[in-house]
Amino acid sequence: MDQPLCRSVLITGANRGIGLGLVQGLLAASPCPEVIIATCRCPESAQELQKLCKQYSNIRVLPLDVVSENSIKETVKKVEDIVGEKGLNCLINNAGINVFGSLEDVTMEAMLTTFKTNTVAQLMLSKAFLPLLKKAAKQSATMGCHRAAIVNMSSISASIALAKPNDNFHVIYPYRTSKAALNMVTKSLATDLKLEGILCIALHPGWIQTDMGGTMAPLKVHDAIPAIISLLAQLSEKDNGAFLDWQGNILPW
Ligand SMILES: NC(=O)c1ccc[n+]([C@@H]2O[C@H](COP(=O)([O-])OP(=O)(O)OC[C@H]3O[C@@H](n4cnc5c(N)ncnc54)[C@H](OP(=O)(O)O)[C@@H]3O)[C@@H](O)[C@H]2O)c1
Repeated sequence: MDQPLCRSVLITGANRGIGLGLVQGLLAASPCPEVIIATCRCPESAQELQKLCKQYSNIRVLPLDVVSENSIKETVKKVEDIVGEKGLNCLINNAGINVFGSLEDVTMEAMLTTFKTNTVAQLMLSKAFLPLLKKAAKQSATMGCHRAAIVNMSSISASIALAKPNDNFHVIYPYRTSKAALNMVTKSLATDLKLEGILCIALHPGWIQTDMGGTMAPLKVHDAIPAIISLLAQLSEKDNGAFLDWQGNILPW
């Protein structure tokens, strides 16, 4: 990369899995963003992030529970102080949960908890960071992460067009429906924010070995992350409102 992905980026759920991988990948990129804001529920116990803070001066670790309105408010204030008049370029809504539930055993609680974390939180975070994204969008003209963008971590399991009888995803009603709803949130945001110059995409990061992805996943975090970062760096107006996979393929809704 000749240009950094952006000046400032915020990643939710950055203490482990793909979120931590993104932080590590961005820190290793050359050039790397000036400000990387890694958020997680419990910074005190996020040992990997704490180590990175000692090594790099451009990473800030902030507490953020994405389902707490107070926590979101507090984080926005802190991020405002960090990014200043230049605003926030890129919000990566990565935090998510996978609560299992087949038709036989799915519960109302599982559905509602998953929707709150995987759909509602992303919309509320996008709303809360909008003023900072708008500030960043005013600084340049062409669309992309370098200007202002919201990246929502979705999943191929949410594709209604690709759903097949008895596919591997029939046991995850809460997860796949929450991500399908997140896709609609993304499309709606893309439409609403186009004129502001803020790009929005839904991204399937690949099936990756993490606590959520499990050990059967074909990709390791360090295999997928460089491709994801390079994809994010190449996003432009034509990608606004798209559902993409980690290799840049357009996925059907
Ligand atoms: N791995 C895959 O194969 C795969 C495939 C498709 C999509 N995805 C998506 O990619 C994203 C990251 O997945 P992953 O595999 O890295 O999952 P993971 O290893 O289970 O990590 C999930 C992250 O989300 C955080 N989180 C959950 N609830 C939160 C909350 N209320 N507030 C703040 N943070 C919260 C977790 O924090 P704690 O440590 O505090 O729990 C953790 O940092 C998810 O949105 C997932 O749906 C993953």
